[in-house]
Amino acid sequence: MLNDNKENFLLIDLGTLLNEKLLGFNLYILHDNNFVLYRGAEVNFTEKHRQNIIAKKLNLYIEKKEKEKYIGYLKQNLKNIVDDKNINNKEKSKYYYQASRTVLAQLFSESEEVSNTKASAEILSDTAITILTASDFEMKNILENLQFEYTTFTHSLNVALIATIFAQSLGMKNEKLQSITTGALLHDIGKKEIDPKILFKPGKLEPEEWELVKTHPVIGYNIVKTFNYDDKTIYNIVLYHHEKINGKGYPEGIKDIPIEAQVAALCDIFDALTSQRCYKNALGSFPAFKIMFNEMGDALNRDLLAEFIKLFKDYGN
Ligand SMILES: [Fe+2]
Ligand SMILES: [Fe+2]
Repeated sequence: MLNDNKENFLLIDLGTLLNEKLLGFNLYILHDNNFVLYRGAEVNFTEKHRQNIIAKKLNLYIEKKEKEKYIGYLKQNLKNIVDDKNINNKEKSKYYYQASRTVLAQLFSESEEVSNTKASAEILSDTAITILTASDFEMKNILENLQFEYTTFTHSLNVALIATIFAQSLGMKNEKLQSITTGALLHDIGKKEIDPKILFKPGKLEPEEWELVKTHPVIGYNIVKTFNYDDKTIYNIVLYHHEKINGKGYPEGIKDIPIEAQVAALCDIFDALTSQRCYKNALGSFPAFKIMFNEMGDALNRDLLAEFIKLFKDYGN
């Protein structure tokens, strides 16, 4: 029996645990307001455990001090799962989405060392591309998993997945595609340094608060610059994803926007419109397209927007 100290424990998602794998960290449940050991680090997690957890509606926790081990377990599993020929694309996509959200949440947390960010982003983009370019990939495998809550990490993951599918449909491949995925994963990394009270403020921002929010592309650019990527694609996405072709965007107000930044921007706007935020309700895909087409007409590249909408044509919701 442990001291009931919520500060030292972290809720985790059952979907991120794999069967028949050593956990490598202790798993806890809450019992009578106390955290009790459910399965030890050296025990294989099994389908029986999973069914027991579902049947009893148990919440799972790890000790905060073992968070690194848990994140390491997720990264390792991501690689193993995407390389496993016996797992179909639908299942891979589902696992990818759940595990990546957790890894990204860590990447966007204040405590994360910037030096870990590059390596984590690389694993997430490598594994995403393996899934999204597989011969049995279908758009619905990804779209069915997307959660439209608004946290910076879920948003970043959604933008990265949609941007990769979109870029691929535009004929981009190999390193270019990889850079688009990585750039989209990191496009809002600068928000790490903006006060969450402002970022998630319900209602209208004061002008000076809005000016602060608008600094995130430059802050993000300064972060990713330290990663020394060879390819400009990633920097362009981070720095220019809020530029508009009518010159009314920020931070520079350029009209000639690199294509990768435009691709990320469309996915960014789409995810923002279709997500629940503290100041607005979520829209369906088609109402979102309507707004993008009718109300943002001169700010967005219409030809590119038409290509984007085509992606969703067969999915229809
Ligand atoms: Fe942004
Ligand atoms: Fe964004």
